[in-house]
Amino acid sequence: MNDPSRIYRWLLLVASLVTIIYLVSAAVHENYLAQWKTVQREYLTILQQKATDDRGRELLAKFRVEMKQASIPALGTVDRCVTCHNGIDDPRMTDVPQPHRTHPGHILDKHPVDRFGCTVCHHGQGAALTFNEAKAEDVFWDYPLLPPNMTEATCVTCHDAEKLPPDQIPLLVVGMKLYQEKSCGSCHKLGGRGGTLGPALDNEGAKSKHQLIMTNLKPPHTTWSWQNAHFRDPGGVVPGSLMRNPTVTRPETLALTVYMLSQWKRDVPESYLAPDKIEQKYRALHPTPLTGEQVYRQYCTACHGNGAYTRWDKKFNRFIPAIRGVSLVSTASRDYLQANIEQGRPGTQMPAWGPHAGGLLPEEITGVIEYLRSGATAAAPAPALTLHGDAGNGLSLFLRNCAGCHGMNGRGGMAPEIGNPVFQQAAPDEFIIRTIRNGRVGTAMPAFQRPDAPALGDQDIADVLAYLRTLDSHRGQKAIAQNTVTAAPSGGKP
Ligand code: HEC
Ligand code: HEC
Ligand code: HEC
Ligand code: HEC
Ligand code: HEC
Ligand code: HEC
Repeated sequence: MNDPSRIYRWLLLVASLVTIIYLVSAAVHENYLAQWKTVQREYLTILQQKATDDRGRELLAKFRVEMKQASIPALGTVDRCVTCHNGIDDPRMTDVPQPHRTHPGHILDKHPVDRFGCTVCHHGQGAALTFNEAKAEDVFWDYPLLPPNMTEATCVTCHDAEKLPPDQIPLLVVGMKLYQEKSCGSCHKLGGRGGTLGPALDNEGAKSKHQLIMTNLKPPHTTWSWQNAHFRDPGGVVPGSLMRNPTVTRPETLALTVYMLSQWKRDVPESYLAPDKIEQKYRALHPTPLTGEQVYRQYCTACHGNGAYTRWDKKFNRFIPAIRGVSLVSTASRDYLQANIEQGRPGTQMPAWGPHAGGLLPEEITGVIEYLRSGATAAAPAPALTLHGDAGNGLSLFLRNCAGCHGMNGRGGMAPEIGNPVFQQAAPDEFIIRTIRNGRVGTAMPAFQRPDAPALGDQDIADVLAYLRTLDSHRGQKAIAQNTVTAAPSGGKP
């Protein structure tokens, strides 16, 4: 007899069997073959081999194959890492393979597992029960397990790096030093101090990989691989980047990367902070002033170099003046330098360094001015002579003699922006006249009154000056209205 439903009953039977087999195997896999259970059975064997004394036998007898965890609400984490890293605080487990091995060093003595867990130092996904998920390099987890050699980046969550034994944070120590030596503060703020060309770095370590552009990087995409690659070639990672290539060796790159990862204003309860961290927070509010030379090294060198030479910067498409050059510091007044440093040169890369901008203290600005002027003697002020400058004639002289370097309207180009409002307000006439007459030794700025070849007479210079003053919207109107400026007589030595 041919029952038409027969084929369906067979199909149902087969489907049910497949489902049951699948469920059973899943159950076996989950309960018996789960990675952590395999790990714990291995560990049990190791315990048996090592149970040679009373203590060893006691540990063996107490061991249960079960999920283990450190639950730490104060740090907002449940860390199950010890489910696999069973021997982490057993000093006998130094000669066994991972994950059974004792923790390196004595760090867990000071940071017991039940109070600190693991992820506060290592990152990774605490609740995971497979190593892949604990490592969490997938898209969904913001802070994957740090490579072991970079784990020191997290110590500064609770410690002042200056107070930790340097051998425990070798890369951080080098990274901090490099940050100063390479004058990263010229372009980046850290702790409220530094330049503004690049972003502030106070929370750089808190960034997840989703906040960084990975398109030009090979996988695996992690924040540390990004940092590493960016330090080796900023423009290769961020096209068009104005960041100077820090020219560092591979170990130095790693050190800078770890230092960047350590920049994380992470909130942990005060009871978890080491006493020196609390002191550090206080000190940050009351910084000790740096010397002028330290300020210069940390905040000016990346752009101005040693300050003795003028430099054309291809990336900035601008000329960077020699701010320690004899010609500038012997003509520029203290007020002029102070105004330029405090206010910067708006519209150029020269940032403002005053307390509310770059965060330098008033005594640090005084100090750096002293440093710029050290070694150069200020020129004696020349007796004044009044000449009437004609801005119209000045314009044609400017176009013929100056615009090629200083740009139309003094907007800069191969030479500084002399139309810049901060320059205009800070630079006294005498300073400008002297600069035109004598030029700047060691820079492209020519002397226009060399005794052997005087290109411009006193009247010409007064005209140029009158024109220059029209470039400043405030003073310009006045100068044009009066059509007069004060010029000192020639006679300054070239
Ligand atoms: C399911 C078991 C398991 C869990 C859970 C686990 N691990 Fe591991 N862990 C391993 C194994 C296995 C290795 C060795 C892997 C290898 O060498 O490839 C390892 C290696 C490591 C290493 C060395 C990594 C390296 O790249 O050399 C660190 C660090 C580590 N684990 C930390 C942790 C932390 C922190 C957690 C918790 C967030 C954790 N593990 C959770 C099994 C686990
Ligand atoms: C106070 C911070 C801190 C805590 C807490 C901590 N670790 Fe570590 N751990 C480190 C540092 C730093 C290193 C690298 C030290 C070294 O290589 O000498 C490290 C190294 C390791 C390594 C060896 C990696 C390798 O292959 O070199 C493993 C595995 C590990 N930790 C697992 C854990 C587990 C599991 C926990 C939680 C029970 C834990 N750690 C808790 C800081 C910590
Ligand atoms: C979650 C906060 C936290 C993190 C992260 C942390 N520590 Fe600690 N650490 C402490 C606390 C709290 C103490 C105990 C301070 C005390 O009792 O004086 C301590 C003590 C220490 C001590 C002993 C200091 C002493 O004076 O006895 C050392 C050394 C140390 N930590 C090193 C490290 C290193 C290295 C790291 C990074 C791998 C690290 N710590 C990460 C909180 C932390
Ligand atoms: C001449 C100025 C300049 C100097 C000097 C400089 N940087 Fe930068 N930096 C930048 C600019 C501009 C950016 C943004 C473009 C980019 O990401 O490359 C940047 C980006 C960065 C970023 C990525 C920030 C983010 O989250 O996007 C880090 C990290 C960084 N710099 C660190 C450093 C360190 C460390 C040094 C010293 C070795 C340094 N920089 C020196 C200008 C500079
Ligand atoms: C060959 C290029 C060149 C020419 C031509 C030139 N300058 Fe300059 N000028 C410079 C450079 C370079 C500097 C910056 C020198 C330094 O490093 O201190 C400068 C500096 C100056 C300064 C001081 C600006 C500051 O920020 O301190 C003034 C004012 C100035 N020039 C005016 C003139 C005038 C007016 C003329 C035309 C009569 C002129 N320059 C022609 C290249 C030139
Ligand atoms: C990001 C690069 C950068 C940094 C960092 C920087 N400067 Fe400058 N600075 C410039 C540029 C570019 C100019 C020329 C601006 C122009 O073209 O008008 C300049 C001009 C100046 C001038 C005017 C010089 C003149 O010829 O009149 C002074 C003074 C000066 N900088 C001092 C400093 C000091 C002091 C620091 C450190 C605290 C510093 N700068 C840091 C880029 C920088």
